[in-house]
Amino acid sequence: MPPPDYPGIKTVHSFAELMGTPFARGVNALCWRRTLAGDFGEVVEQLGRGDEIVTIEEEQLAGFDVSAAGRAAVEILRDDLQRLREAGRDPALNCVHRYARDEAPGPVRTDVFSWHADSAPVEADTWLCTYYGPPSEGLPNEEAQRRVDAPEVRAELLKLLGMEEDGAEFREALREHCFDLHYASLPQARPFSFGVGNLWRIAVDWPGSLVPPCIHRAPETPPGQPRLLLIC
Ligand SMILES: [Fe+2]
Repeated sequence: MPPPDYPGIKTVHSFAELMGTPFARGVNALCWRRTLAGDFGEVVEQLGRGDEIVTIEEEQLAGFDVSAAGRAAVEILRDDLQRLREAGRDPALNCVHRYARDEAPGPVRTDVFSWHADSAPVEADTWLCTYYGPPSEGLPNEEAQRRVDAPEVRAELLKLLGMEEDGAEFREALREHCFDLHYASLPQARPFSFGVGNLWRIAVDWPGSLVPPCIHRAPETPPGQPRLLLIC
């Protein structure tokens, strides 16, 4: 769980508080800590094997052949989906077997295993909860450096993008390729786990944001270890 002295994270105690607490004064991650009853592994088992990401429709959940513990998990999932929909969101419940990895050689890796910020052109945030499997991870902003801010990386990107000048056009290209959203952790950084069952709302990079975006990544998972994840 997050280190208690990380000021970017605020713990809340209800969905309403999670939704209603603004990102301000450096707080860019809100965590509704929850210990969920129910066997989410049974839900994952019902889905069987998959290659990459299997999205679960709510109607499917009702038809699962599960024990009472599995049923409890299904009810929690349905409650979360409904709550978020009522809040005007479009949540996706995913069973993640494998994420695509950025295999291209280059100075900045841009897959979800790399520390990154989500971004949007208008006001936005990201909600997420890991119900099963290794949870997402976060990195305090003070312990991160944007990869494009390192002069040697910038020079390599200029070459890669075939540009001569570090100006507006270059910055635009960095954004277009999402290079400017990826971070390196500083030595002695203390990444934190989002934990299992907790529902998070994290700040993204958008033009009017009052806080820096919350830096996060998907965990490395051993083959055959699926995750059950809600995201919107
Ligand atoms: Fe992300």
